[in-house]
Amino acid sequence: MTILITGGAGYIGSHCCVTFLDAGYDVVVLDNLSNSNTASLTRAEEISGRKLVFEQGDVRDQATVETLLKRHECTAVIHFAGLKAVGESTRYPLAYYDNNVIGTHRLLSAMANAGVRDLIFSSSATVYGEPQQLPLTEEHSLNPVNPYGRTKLIVEDMLRDLAASDPGWRIGILRYFNPVGAHASGLIGEDPLGVPNNLMPFITQVASGRREKLNVFGNDYETRDGTGVRDYIHVVDLVEGHLRAYHALSNLDGRDNCFAVNLGTGDGYSVLEMVKAFERASNRIISYDFVPRRAGDVAECFADTKKAQELLSWSAERELHNMCEDTWNWVCKNPKGYSD
Ligand code: NAD
Ligand code: UFG
Repeated sequence: MTILITGGAGYIGSHCCVTFLDAGYDVVVLDNLSNSNTASLTRAEEISGRKLVFEQGDVRDQATVETLLKRHECTAVIHFAGLKAVGESTRYPLAYYDNNVIGTHRLLSAMANAGVRDLIFSSSATVYGEPQQLPLTEEHSLNPVNPYGRTKLIVEDMLRDLAASDPGWRIGILRYFNPVGAHASGLIGEDPLGVPNNLMPFITQVASGRREKLNVFGNDYETRDGTGVRDYIHVVDLVEGHLRAYHALSNLDGRDNCFAVNLGTGDGYSVLEMVKAFERASNRIISYDFVPRRAGDVAECFADTKKAQELLSWSAERELHNMCEDTWNWVCKNPKGYSD
């Protein structure tokens, strides 16, 4: 069975390639390399000891996607390709609607024409917006507060409409919490361009001496130490959740052929707890300053994990120390990311 992985050269996609190759599937990656490097794919092959097929191209190019789905006789698609930075989405909303919404529409049209109707989609906990109650269950209201989140919700709605229109589609929507960490080999990991937006890559760059100190956005939240609390999940657990979700597609029937599931650990850690955990893992001091809150941030966000356990028979296994140790291993082995 051949799976098309869009965005497969990226951070989460490259880990997903390893998981699916290890599970015996053939993998075709479609990526335009706008935020990645083919080195991640060579390394994924090295880890799994198997080859994959790489096609450089854009999900918005419907004809190309249709041709490669047919040529490689793909049976399912895992769709990671898209843009993902919240702040950037407020400055360039059209780029986000173009890549994420129009890109997914073209992909789905190509899949329909090629007769491929099994799909796993990368959504985000950001679709919930400001939490009304915690932990966040999948039934929580969907009210994203930035353009990025709105593109994810529009795609989710499009997928629900598509599934309702035709029982032949089988669709799994996965709402990620905060993916961090790297493959235990240290061969693949997160390699952000420019100044990192997210906490973990910023902490690693302070630990490795590339940046002087971390700005902690707010220490006056109603949390145990005043700093923001998030549900960090090891990227390898996350992609194993994709394998379980893919298997769960075959249990869907025509009346209920689309599900949305949280992928998180259910545990929340504060910014300062993350700093301390990373100091232990790296044996380095992480200097930080408290600065005002970042616009759009919520105090706390963590997942209810029951539905994932029931529907996918999946729960995250790796703990915070594994997330930090594996990240540090990746950074030490690749101080300049894939450009080493
Ligand atoms: P990433 O940027 O590392 O990977 C995305 C990949 O898609 C990159 O390789 C990029 O080159 C490619 N791409 C972008 N637009 C494309 C297009 N139009 N056609 C073909 N390829 C294209 O990001 P990631 O962290 O691996 O995220 C993967 C997915 O997971 C995204 O859809 C993102 O929104 C979602 N997600 C990520 C997080 C997170 O914190 N990393 C959280 C929630 C959801
Ligand atoms: N933070 C800092 N300093 C930094 C970066 C982050 O203090 O330099 C804090 C934030 O204020 C927040 C926490 O660290 O309290 C986590 O922030 P991230 O930017 O790492 O993650 P977010 O929870 O804001 O968002 C991430 C992804 C989104 C995704 C969301 C899902 O960036 O794409 O997780 O929960 F939608």
